[in-house]
Amino acid sequence: MFNFADLEIPLVGAPMAGGPSTPQLAAAVSNAGGLGMLAAGYLNADQLSGQVQQTRELTDQPFGVNLFCPADPNDNPVNAEALLQDYRLALAPLGKQYGLDLLNYELVLPDHFHSLLDWLLTNPVPVVTFTFGCPSAENVERLQAVGTYVGVTVTNPQDATLAAQAGANFLCVQGPDAGGHQSTFRVQDEVNQLPLSQLLPDVQSVTDLPLVAGGGIGNSEDVQSILALGVEAVQIGTLLLLSDEAGTSQAHRDALQSGIAETQLTRAFTGRPARAIVNDFVTEFDKLAPAVYPHMHYLTAPLRAKAKDAGPWEHINAWAGAGFNQAQTRPAAEIISDLFSADS
Ligand SMILES: Cc1cc2nc3c(=O)[nH]c(=O)nc-3n(C[C@H](O)[C@H](O)[C@H](O)COP(=O)(O)O)c2cc1C
Repeated sequence: MFNFADLEIPLVGAPMAGGPSTPQLAAAVSNAGGLGMLAAGYLNADQLSGQVQQTRELTDQPFGVNLFCPADPNDNPVNAEALLQDYRLALAPLGKQYGLDLLNYELVLPDHFHSLLDWLLTNPVPVVTFTFGCPSAENVERLQAVGTYVGVTVTNPQDATLAAQAGANFLCVQGPDAGGHQSTFRVQDEVNQLPLSQLLPDVQSVTDLPLVAGGGIGNSEDVQSILALGVEAVQIGTLLLLSDEAGTSQAHRDALQSGIAETQLTRAFTGRPARAIVNDFVTEFDKLAPAVYPHMHYLTAPLRAKAKDAGPWEHINAWAGAGFNQAQTRPAAEIISDLFSADS
């Protein structure tokens, strides 16, 4: 079974759903001596199968797959429909600018979780991680029975305890400066505001499980200070967004290089808190956004897709961690080697 001690470099390339994670990026991270990850959060089983096959063609090193746990429908507020309708009304004028009728747009909420899990049980990969919740002990055990090392992404000690009780092999501890979504277990949860350096000891006080930690890492000093806290590896997402192998859209790349100084946590795009570059969309809609998931994700998806194709980045979800202005356009292997070289 996979073991972090076998990695040449204590690095996990974060799974980044929605385009940035590619087989090329996962393989580049694994070939560089870290653990590359595929992001299956928005994929179906056929798409995952294709990505796993491509990754295997590009590397013979271990890699992992990340899944999103489905939201418990009871987690949404009882007036979720009314809240969503208000948000539709607020978004409608912008939708119209992109030729969309968001007032009458029919929401379809795909659920691929069980078919993805079944696929991974019959086609095992070395590592599987879960985000947005805790897998059942039964599912953890089924994956372990086919030789898969299982991780759960947590943002506070309470959820760390739940994941340990479910039998996880390791935890990915995510600090509040991380780019993209916070892996809160319940949609309504507020984000933990403790910096990673304080969150880690809190998690270590409730579990002895091996830990991976990430969120807001911008340079090799950040890497060293997190490793010094006794984790197996650091997880890096945003710093890989501009890498040659990432599938990051041009609009997202432009946002990251726009010289803008600010990111913030917002529910405006998906109903779940996620750290993004503060653009016009965040400024206008953050205060109006209800905590309704995954409906909000699928309501804003067509608008975000049109905005992305149009080019400018003011209306896209430009996920970014607090260290984003240190991201560089280079091959992933060079980014990684700079982060881990002794003299950097
Ligand atoms: C564009 C983007 C997409 C992300 N998608 C996922 C995902 O699909 N699954 C997941 O567990 N984490 C996801 N994350 C969060 C990362 O796993 C990780 O916590 C984060 O990137 C670490 O912080 P950093 O971006 O500051 O390095 C995403 C992050 C970014 C930037």
